[in-house]
Amino acid sequence: MGSNLARNLASREGNTVAVFNRSPERTRTLVTEHPEAGFVAAESYDEFVASLATPRTAIIMVQAGRGTDAVISELVSRFEPGDIIVDGGNANFHDTIRREGEISPTGIHFVGTGISGGEEGALNGPSIMPGGTAESYETLGPILETIAARAPEDGAPCVTHVGTDGAGHFVKMVHNGIEYADMQLIAEAYDLIRQGTGKTPAEIADIFAEWNTGELESYLIEITAEVLRQVDAETGAPLVDVILDSAGAKGTGAWTVQNALDLGVPVSGIAEAVFARSLSSQRAQREAAASLPGPDGGWAVADADAFIEDVRQALYASKIIAYSQGFDEIIAGAAQFGWDVKKGDIARIWRAGCIIRARFLNRIADAYAEDPELLALVVAPYFRDAVAGAQQAWRRVVVAAAQAGIPAPAFSSSLAYYDGLRAERLPAALVQGQRDFFGAHTYQRVDKPGVFHTLWSGDRSEIETTPSSH
Ligand code: 6PG
Repeated sequence: MGSNLARNLASREGNTVAVFNRSPERTRTLVTEHPEAGFVAAESYDEFVASLATPRTAIIMVQAGRGTDAVISELVSRFEPGDIIVDGGNANFHDTIRREGEISPTGIHFVGTGISGGEEGALNGPSIMPGGTAESYETLGPILETIAARAPEDGAPCVTHVGTDGAGHFVKMVHNGIEYADMQLIAEAYDLIRQGTGKTPAEIADIFAEWNTGELESYLIEITAEVLRQVDAETGAPLVDVILDSAGAKGTGAWTVQNALDLGVPVSGIAEAVFARSLSSQRAQREAAASLPGPDGGWAVADADAFIEDVRQALYASKIIAYSQGFDEIIAGAAQFGWDVKKGDIARIWRAGCIIRARFLNRIADAYAEDPELLALVVAPYFRDAVAGAQQAWRRVVVAAAQAGIPAPAFSSSLAYYDGLRAERLPAALVQGQRDFFGAHTYQRVDKPGVFHTLWSGDRSEIETTPSSH
């Protein structure tokens, strides 16, 4: 990804790019394979730093973690005040906040930057989410704007100053969480259609390609069709049937959920997607459980076309929930860490270049433009109507999945979230009663202000009290 980003930068008018890798061999290969880039090859940190024009800007693309700290410390010892170090890896935003705090006294700008789009995006235009100081963005912004993807609707570059210190990596983390949810929802849609209608992967590829011409249009739907159409050269079977069903994860999805728990934001669709990958990898447990009973008999839907349309609608509704939850986490993170994140700008820079690029991000941008204080994306008029139109189909799909014994954790948890959110009254009242019973945790009443406790072990009269600290 680093070499592709360097090639992208080098291809822009007026840019000369110096490249350095701790393995000089790799640097030499890159320079030899891409003479058109006019790279300046450096074989040591000293050489690399000496080759940069001042104020210097260096973009680090290494595996997140200790490696990043090592490279940063080499650069910091050679850079001067006003120079900029960009970390373009998938760093944990807490590390980014720490690194910025350590580096800022030196006068060097440290800019944690989310970059999405994989290798191809890095070369042809990624979506870029820089954090760091507003001052650093004055220098960095114009450079990043030249290499970022351009939104097809208005040609705007998919980059903006997301917020200070760790904001860029936080937003990229949530992007990845949404990516997990979107991928899991698509996988559930595929599984339900295959098991319910008996269609082949190639036939389902056609269905996804068709969906990609409508409101579901997105990069992930597009590549899903390609993966489903792929035939294994060795066996002649659909490739999807010979790939081991254990999904990997590098951690950003789990971080999204861990931070959501800390922030108290229910990102249930994302969480189920992360857990679904974990479950898939529990091979020994899955083998031990393989003999557990499921529903009797096989499953075939009565009307395949109607079912496929239901699945399409359920997918759209669940996807809206996943994005709504993701934006909730961005809003909560911004409040917690003091970032002035513009939600509409985030939707705009995700319209192209990134893995979750999708037509409906325009709708999200519009929703936040209309009401920047929107309480939840799902209550914005367009999304409210979309979900209202899909909800019956969504329910039929979740019921069918449960009856057939097909796991659809992201579909069903998204629906449960939707019903929880719109419920006039939740059984949380009973939970409060239980907490008060065993721990005197107190409760509030619907009919008067104050904090109350029932004397459960005494005469069960109610007293007004101070809030429990538990
Ligand atoms: C992107 C991707 C990219 C990568 C993630 C996900 O935006 O370009 O999100 O960052 O694919 O690391 O990886 P896992 O699925 O392995 O967690």
